[in-house]
Amino acid sequence: MTRRMIPLSEPVLGGNEWKYVKEALDTGWVSTAGPFIERFEKAFAAAVRSPHAVAAASGTAALHTALLCVGVKPGDEVLVPALTFVAPANAIRYCGAFPVFMDADPATYQMDAAKVERFLREECEMRAGVCVDRSNGRPVRAVVAVHLLGLACEIDRIAAAARERGVKVVEDAAEALGVSYKGRAAGTFGDMGCFSFNGNKIVTSGGGGMIVSADAALARKAAYLTTQAKDDPEEYVHNEIGYNYRMTTLQAALGLAQLEQLPGFVARKRAIAAAYDAAFAAVPGIVPMPKPAGVDATFWLYTVRLRGADLETRKRFIKGLHARGVGARPLWHTIHDLPPFKDCRAYAVEHATELYHDSVSLPSGAGLTDEEVRFCADAVRAELAAAAP
Ligand SMILES: Cc1ncc(COP(=O)(O)O)c(C=O)c1O
Repeated sequence: MTRRMIPLSEPVLGGNEWKYVKEALDTGWVSTAGPFIERFEKAFAAAVRSPHAVAAASGTAALHTALLCVGVKPGDEVLVPALTFVAPANAIRYCGAFPVFMDADPATYQMDAAKVERFLREECEMRAGVCVDRSNGRPVRAVVAVHLLGLACEIDRIAAAARERGVKVVEDAAEALGVSYKGRAAGTFGDMGCFSFNGNKIVTSGGGGMIVSADAALARKAAYLTTQAKDDPEEYVHNEIGYNYRMTTLQAALGLAQLEQLPGFVARKRAIAAAYDAAFAAVPGIVPMPKPAGVDATFWLYTVRLRGADLETRKRFIKGLHARGVGARPLWHTIHDLPPFKDCRAYAVEHATELYHDSVSLPSGAGLTDEEVRFCADAVRAELAAAAP
């Protein structure tokens, strides 16, 4: 029998998914209105202990909306990691603003808080109450603090440095549902926080996103912008450009059923990470996944570094894992050197590139069996041994 490729991160649909989706279908509520959307928003707000939650069509739509809500305008600058999935950088461009790419901390893979502080302190100045990038005169309007891989960035430091200068903070917690930083849910430190329910996330709605905020006015604005900015729905009066960014009821029904299972998914992913840690403890060629101080991690994707590997070695390593039936993947290509962003500013980016070159994410779905995790860890060790000179 040929073994299937062990997937990187497959959803586990083991709860009320069928029941809730059927309920939505039976009641005829399938589109962007209906009780499941509100139920999902309420349950989500409670899960991350945020006063307000607004469901959106995707994590990317959530980010675009949040940036508009906090006032990002064409010609502004927004700080964002060079090493992340491309969605937050795209969302900044949708606003007509320019990303400024920040380095990753090699010890945690996250946006380097010290470099964010240094950029704001040394590269910017206050002009008429606005933080401005001295090199080009552009207002620095916001920072998108991304929490990667089921860990968290040092959001308290990043938020403090930003707020001191009136710079808004949007958290991208797409990969960090269930993660806490210093006892508080990732995504609830900034002016707004954004989540994704894409199919590979810890909780999926097939596709979808959520925006959270402690600020009722910002949450209202998000609800307004995601539903075509309706000022007088009966007369079709729209005083601003709006978006068709609302989640559908079918997505919300699925998402709610998934959210109910979050504690179990988190526990399972922590057990998988512990099994990988144990398997790699005595393997000198592997740097295990970091456990940053103050972070209660979910290890959304268990990601290791191949000690001393260059880009080509890492590419061969992943091909070798695929041949052994392990659905591994690299971290993202650094964004500042991709064609659509080549003209944007990158500030002291060094380690992000090393991490892109030498890191490998391993299968981490909550549905993996112990035997499958062992199989993946054995394959990593075997591939290392095979690649040794
Ligand atoms: C860090 C990060 N931000 C944003 C997104 C975008 O979310 P979505 O796919 O729901 O638009 C993703 C994943 O897809 C992500 O990993």
